Amino acid sequence: MLSILPLREEMNVKNDEIIKKTEEFAQRFFRQEATGHDWWHTHRVRTLALKIAQEEVADPFIVEMAALLHDIGDYKFSDGDEQKGREIVSHYLHLLPLSTSLIEKILDITSSVSYMKTLSPADKSAEIEGSPEFKSVSDADKLDAIGAIGIARAFTYGGYYHRPVYDPAIPPNPHISQEEYKTTEGPSLNHFYEKLLKLKDMMLTSCGKKLARDRHNFLVEYLNRFYQEWEAQK
Ligand code: ADP
Ligand code: NI
Repeated sequence: MLSILPLREEMNVKNDEIIKKTEEFAQRFFRQEATGHDWWHTHRVRTLALKIAQEEVADPFIVEMAALLHDIGDYKFSDGDEQKGREIVSHYLHLLPLSTSLIEKILDITSSVSYMKTLSPADKSAEIEGSPEFKSVSDADKLDAIGAIGIARAFTYGGYYHRPVYDPAIPPNPHISQEEYKTTEGPSLNHFYEKLLKLKDMMLTSCGKKLARDRHNFLVEYLNRFYQEWEAQK
């Protein structure tokens, strides 16, 4: 037991340095981001994923690395090219003193965490979906899209792309396909029905489910108030 202690301490120091570097890498990457994916989204996902990971008995290093890198490979930042996104993250990870198997584990999570992917069953990988590390990061990312913060992000995204807040003449499509989701130019309020209200039932951990309930109820309350105020204008 005693003989492995110094080794473990050495590893912790090494891991702490890798996390610090990765944090700086993500901060630089998201410096100019204004679509609701800013650095603070990544930071919140990291914090929440680590909290969920404790209950899931997931490897905290893999969870933290995957959370910090989860949006860097997003198709939106690689001109719609998913492979390019994976390569950016892979290239970064290969600069670090990490084993190939660890790199693969992190990459498999960062390449699979995405609501857009869940709209196409062919994109899902059953094995990855089952890992506690994937579940922790996936739930944390989806939780950050609901509740008060999620509402702020939806309108930030909509504003950036010049979308109207609401247009009663353009109804939402709750059965939106993956292709339609990528190209929709609908009002931001439609996004609640096309994604946000579905997230609570997509939670993979019990901690995620518990947190999602409260945030979901706030979305419903917000929508009710929104329509009340809209109707009161008439
Ligand atoms: P995530 O980082 O959670 O995977 P996305 O990449 O899908 O989220 O989108 C970033 C943020 O912008 C999220 O909060 C999401 O709900 C919001 N968003 C994405 N598409 C739209 C849209 N068409 N209208 C309004 N908000 C959107
Ligand atoms: Ni995200």
